[in-house]
Amino acid sequence: MGGRDSEPEDFDDRISGWHHSLSWGDNTESVAPYVPTPLNVVRQMLIIAEIGPDDVLYDLGCGDGRILFTAVEEFNISRAVGFELNPRMVESTRLKIEDRGLNGKIKVVEGNFFEEDFSEASVITLYLTTSGNAKLRPKFHDELRSGARIVSHDFPIVDWITAKHDQGYYSVGSHKIYFYRIPQAYNSKAPEKKEQEDRWDRLKRLFDRG
Ligand SMILES: C[S@@+](CC[C@H](N)C(=O)[O-])C[C@H]1O[C@@H](n2cnc3c(N)ncnc32)[C@H](O)[C@@H]1O
Repeated sequence: MGGRDSEPEDFDDRISGWHHSLSWGDNTESVAPYVPTPLNVVRQMLIIAEIGPDDVLYDLGCGDGRILFTAVEEFNISRAVGFELNPRMVESTRLKIEDRGLNGKIKVVEGNFFEEDFSEASVITLYLTTSGNAKLRPKFHDELRSGARIVSHDFPIVDWITAKHDQGYYSVGSHKIYFYRIPQAYNSKAPEKKEQEDRWDRLKRLFDRG
């Protein structure tokens, strides 16, 4: 009586094993399988994104909610919203939110983030795939306001320019962190080159006329 075995399971015991049945193909709307970001990488992502109390963070594909909890509990952010397709993960994360008394600060939306509006977000976190990021690019372009930041674990947003001074990524062990600021991220090399060509075209026309 009263021994360790008769004590109620703690929260992590209750939810452990819930996630193991997940795989890439569970949902046709999925652009990434469930793989959690290690917590030291989560912290670095949030440091790089310079998050603070005034930010509203959206984690697209929030898994077990670790980015949301770290942002609120360690970085004092007042609002973090996660989107997740998998109903069991949503349920377990909501239980955790309840358990920790964070209902006013963290919200998890069950469903496909492609159907959501991102305009409220000042910071977006991603751990998806390069092709998933590319599919999101037009939405980011249309919906994110100037000053918004995007921080992506391991996968870049192709054709966009990172905000790191040498335009590369940050490394945390073998993990990469890509960081973008809106609207500087849009300044791809291609339009500049085109502008230069247009200038030459104009000059050529002037010479041809003369
Ligand atoms: C690699 S995990 C990342 C989990 C968490 N963000 C982290 O970094 O620990 C990607 C998550 O995105 C979810 N996901 C993939 N496509 C999605 C979509 N279209 N809408 C909502 N969630 C999606 C998957 O179910 C999975 O849990």
